[in-house]
Parts: sequence; C-alpha cells; structure tokens
Amino acid sequence: MKGVLICGGTGSRLKPLTDITNKSLLPVYNKPLILYPLQVLLDAGIHDIVIISGTEHIDQMAEFLGSGEQYNCNFSFKVQEKPGGIAQALGLAANEYSDDESVCAILGDNVYFDDISDTIKAFSSGAHIFLKEVPDPERFGVAELDGSTVVSIEEKPTQPKSNLAVTGCYIYDKRCFDIIKNLQPSARGELEITDVTKWYLEHGELNASMLQQEWIDAGTFESLHKASVLVREKFI
Ligand code: G1P
Repeated sequence: MKGVLICGGTGSRLKPLTDITNKSLLPVYNKPLILYPLQVLLDAGIHDIVIISGTEHIDQMAEFLGSGEQYNCNFSFKVQEKPGGIAQALGLAANEYSDDESVCAILGDNVYFDDISDTIKAFSSGAHIFLKEVPDPERFGVAELDGSTVVSIEEKPTQPKSNLAVTGCYIYDKRCFDIIKNLQPSARGELEITDVTKWYLEHGELNASMLQQEWIDAGTFESLHKASVLVREKFI
C-alpha cells in the first residue's frame, strides 16, 4: 500500500496564518500539523508516500519534510497546479502506481486520536472510510448508516441525514484512479473525494468504521486550537 498526503487548498479560513504558510505546517502544540497525519501512515507501515500541495507551498513542504530518510520512508512531491478538489489531488498520484497496490489517502489537516493502523493494514479491496459523530455535520461529508452499513454519503449537505462526518482518511483499491478520471466537477467546480467513495458505495464495496476517540479537521481557528489542547492533553 502507498500513502498520499494531501495538503492542497488555500487555507482561507485560517488567514492571515496561511498568508505565506501552508495550513499543514502550522503548529499543533509542539509539531507542525502535517506530522500527525504523516504518523498515521507511518504507523500503518506505509513507506512510499506522495505529498501533494499547490505551487505556492510545495517548496516549503519539501524543505520541511525532506526525502523521507528521517522518517524511514520515501517521499515524492507532486504539484497541484490549481485547487481542483481532493479527488483531483489524489489523481495526481496515479503515475506513482505501477502495480496493483491500494492507496491510503489522508488529508494534511486531519488529526486522529484513534489508532487506525490495524484497519489500514487489514485492507484488501474496495474502499474503507472512518466516521465520527460531530455536532456540525454540514461542514463535512456525511454518511447515513443502516446498522453498520453505509447507505448514503453526501458532501456538505444543508440538511444532513446524520451527525456522522466522513473523516479525511480514505483507503481505496487501485480502481480509484480510473474512477477519478471519469469524475465530473461538482457545483463548486471541484472533483470531490465524496464522489469517489460514492462509486464504491454504489457498487457495494464500501466499508466504514467508527472512531472512538476525538478527531479534528484543523481547518478553522477553533479546531486548530482544540487540536493543540488535545494533543497536549493526550499525547504529551
Ligand atoms: C474535506 C472533504 C469532506 C471531509 C473533510 C474531512 O472537506 O471534502 O468530505 O468530511 O475533508 O476533513 P474540506 O475540509 O476540504 O472542506
């Protein structure tokens, strides 16, 4: 399995912190944010990781992360020319895949407090997502369950069918790259990761697990601050 760490976007909700810095390099207590999702991939034994970021930040990411030697893995860097969505960013990693490997894509601003490494290691085919109950589901992809089966997922619905957010770690088999090639942009002009996951749902190949601990999408001042507080409390 290969890893893809997606650090695109302009970080508009965190301005002026993100005026000259990528969101994922901002501090979460004692480390830059990106090191938390990176650790999720490393804990799952993933050693080949593609880092994706925009033209304005890719040099910073490479300067900070280096070749991967320090983390016992190999990094390669890909530029997302314009913000075109998470699925478009993931599609840029397609050329790194020569064989039948699956992919674990994780967003550079997501902090997990669960250990999800066993689930990532156990993946064989289809797709797997991680869900978390949140008070503000309209900010996220939202999954509706029947028992433990996902029956629908919607991107940032105005009237969410549940309070279960689809968090920013997606495990897909290699077919995801063909799915992305055939995606149409959403109303906001982006290739949505939710549409990739939906393909697997519609083909009966989507599995989901529920997170038990906290999970944070650190894309706002409040959530970035909360991530620092929780990291200090739980990891230090
Ligand atoms: C993205 C996804 C959304 C997901 C979220 C998790 O949203 O589009 O489905 O729930 O990440 O962090 P964004 O944070 O880019 O608005």
